[in-house]
Amino acid sequence: MKNHPVLVASILASFVVLTSGDTESIFDQVQVDITNRLGSGKNLTIHCRSKDDDLGEEVVENGGVYAWSFKTNAWGTTLFYCDLNWEGMSGFSFDAYSFRRDFVRCKSSCSWLVAKEGVYQRNEISGFWEFMYFWP
Ligand SMILES: *[C@@H]1O[C@H](CO)[C@@H](O)[C@H](O)[C@H]1NC(C)=O
Repeated sequence: MKNHPVLVASILASFVVLTSGDTESIFDQVQVDITNRLGSGKNLTIHCRSKDDDLGEEVVENGGVYAWSFKTNAWGTTLFYCDLNWEGMSGFSFDAYSFRRDFVRCKSSCSWLVAKEGVYQRNEISGFWEFMYFWP
């Protein structure tokens, strides 16, 4: 039992080292961008949120881009979801960044295209745009 407090202290000490200073390599900066490719002059209204942040509502004109960036958290649970609304489509919601899905496929830059037929995400590894969601 004598070792116990020492072990606890050393675990605490490693935790302090881990969570201060040298965190850049562990908690990566990610940028997400969403491009409106609906065509025909259609505006896209985007509203993105995480558990802690509400990024507010943005209107993006056809050809325009909406982007934001953040650091992934230590627990691997970072999640941003967005509601998309445009003429003829309302209330579609999708995960614009989910650490579990995206930590490999878009480690630093997560790009989305919103098109008439649905939503594409760029796979950072292959460089290909992958079709992800049909409109409901
Ligand atoms: C799209 O948004 C722009 C700028 O907010 C606005 O001037 C334009 O009238 C909108 N277009 C349509 C089709 O609603």
